[in-house]
Amino acid sequence: MCGIVGYAGKSLAAPVLIDSLKKLEYRGYDSAGITVLGSGIETYKSVGKIVNLEAEIPKKLGGNVGIGHTRWATHGRPSTENAHPHNSGKPGKLSIVHNGIIENYLALKEQLIEEGYEFKSETDTEVIVHLLHKHIYGKPEGNEVKCGLLDGLREALKEIEGSYAVATVSSDEPGKLVVAKKDSPLVIGIGNGENFAASDVTAFLAHTRDVIFVDDFETAVLSPEGVEVFNREGDLLNKTVEKIEWDFEAAEKAGYEHFMLKEIHEQVSAIHSTLSGKVSELEGAIYLEELTLGDDEIRKLSRVQILACGTSWHAGLLGKYLIEQIAGIHCDIDICSEYRYRNPVMEGGTLAIAITQSGETADTLAAVREIRSYNCPTLAITNVVGSTITRETDSVLYTRAGPEIGVAATKTFSTQLTLLYLLAVKFSLVRGRSSPDYVKNFITELRKIPGQIQQVLNQKEIIKECAENFAGAKNYFFLGRHLNYPIALEGALKLKEISYVHAEGFAAGELKHGPIALLAEGTPVVAIATRGQTYEKMLSNIKEVKARDATVIAVADSKDTEIGKYADVVLRVPPSDELLAPLLSVVVLQLLAYYTALALDCSIDKPRNLAKSVTVE
Ligand code: F6R
Repeated sequence: MCGIVGYAGKSLAAPVLIDSLKKLEYRGYDSAGITVLGSGIETYKSVGKIVNLEAEIPKKLGGNVGIGHTRWATHGRPSTENAHPHNSGKPGKLSIVHNGIIENYLALKEQLIEEGYEFKSETDTEVIVHLLHKHIYGKPEGNEVKCGLLDGLREALKEIEGSYAVATVSSDEPGKLVVAKKDSPLVIGIGNGENFAASDVTAFLAHTRDVIFVDDFETAVLSPEGVEVFNREGDLLNKTVEKIEWDFEAAEKAGYEHFMLKEIHEQVSAIHSTLSGKVSELEGAIYLEELTLGDDEIRKLSRVQILACGTSWHAGLLGKYLIEQIAGIHCDIDICSEYRYRNPVMEGGTLAIAITQSGETADTLAAVREIRSYNCPTLAITNVVGSTITRETDSVLYTRAGPEIGVAATKTFSTQLTLLYLLAVKFSLVRGRSSPDYVKNFITELRKIPGQIQQVLNQKEIIKECAENFAGAKNYFFLGRHLNYPIALEGALKLKEISYVHAEGFAAGELKHGPIALLAEGTPVVAIATRGQTYEKMLSNIKEVKARDATVIAVADSKDTEIGKYADVVLRVPPSDELLAPLLSVVVLQLLAYYTALALDCSIDKPRNLAKSVTVE
């Protein structure tokens, strides 16, 4: 989740851009850069926070038009070369900043290299600026303008598959910048003799509250004099200028009261981003190019060992079920702090998978170092490019969820799960256990998930009401079977973490072996009862609970007409493939925890005693 900014006005562009980038730092900051149109294209970049970049920029840097970027790496490690803006032309003629993911960048890059374009970075973005150059100047050393910046950008973007919000400037067209958007956020700020573009309004809220939200496939030209927005066909649009009433803090959270709520909502786009470029519905194929394990090695695997902590461990537990059920490979999972000290028995043919959103959890790093001493291949699933875990494992799969600021993990959990689904299905395909047709169907169902999560989010008022009704409870229980068992554990952990209410998750079948003694009249028991192979058994467990006068809050599909006979409250998810239902149920439980904590007036984004990454053992 990078941030882009643009400025065209009467003030010096550099300080305005730097100030705007600082406001976007919450979107991630492993590196940053700006281009100012001064005597030509003048670009400055730096690794780390925006203050590092600020220190690089000459105090008297001229130019009233410019673009800027704060990067949170998805392609290529954090470095000055990979930082944006990226430029093209000799001498530099064009400069671009980009937020999003270009799915077909490898093919485009090969083609552009063949045509003589030189790449300086490992990013997907650099293909856009060279493509743009090709459309405007015809060839790498071309100087003659064949079309304007706006038309060139529109043509270049036609060749691109993926998501983008871009801002670009040309030394041949001083006094303006051009922006475009598809599937990544972009907003324009209308000032007095100055105009702004950014990934979100926080970037320019200090200057103006009048904004135009750019829609997909629209392009716009910004100059100090005005803003023109065009549709896909190039027709000038009459867009509504809206007034932003939020204060800065609310704007940073896109109007949500807490980062956690924002991040719960972001799961729709985060899963989309995780899947981007990794699946082909048409071919029934899954591309995990970052996986260094070849097909032969995948076929020879006899065991997978998952290592993780906390929420990531819950994702891993579900991963174990998936890898065994779908791929037919024996899979173990360990809590990292236990793994190191239990003298594990290791055998050949084992793949170790470390799951860690931060990539910095000390226990996980130590467990990975331990398992590496057995010489088995290692794979990390993480959200943070360049984190320590990425240097400790042979391969890395990135969740691409964007920075998660709320301490309680939400979107990183569901994107970890998404990758585990892909891994299990990929292994199954390679080992001849599933056919491409099965994979096609699976991808079709998986692609529905972001839309189905949106349907769950649309019902948040019902979940809120339920949370408020039970907010006084001293103990909460969460029950699930099979794939819903890890989700029950996760639901309980979320509630504990942010609302400080005692909550326990159980495999529903275990209840009768002890925990049932804890049930009392009115104890809220959340039973995850989506349709599937254990549904009937789950109904029996619900009846056991009801017989002890506890109160049952069921999570069930919207088509289930039976569950209402047994449960006191039913929270609905859209009917989905049984295997994928956990991705929907967990959103209900995240919202339940969130609204309980809200009702109890807890510090939701920064719960007491907790840190976002636990870097001590
Ligand atoms: C729960 C939570 C923690 C982390 C755990 C591991 O909401 O955030 O339980 O999941 O500390 O962290 P990572 O995934 O960064 O290794």
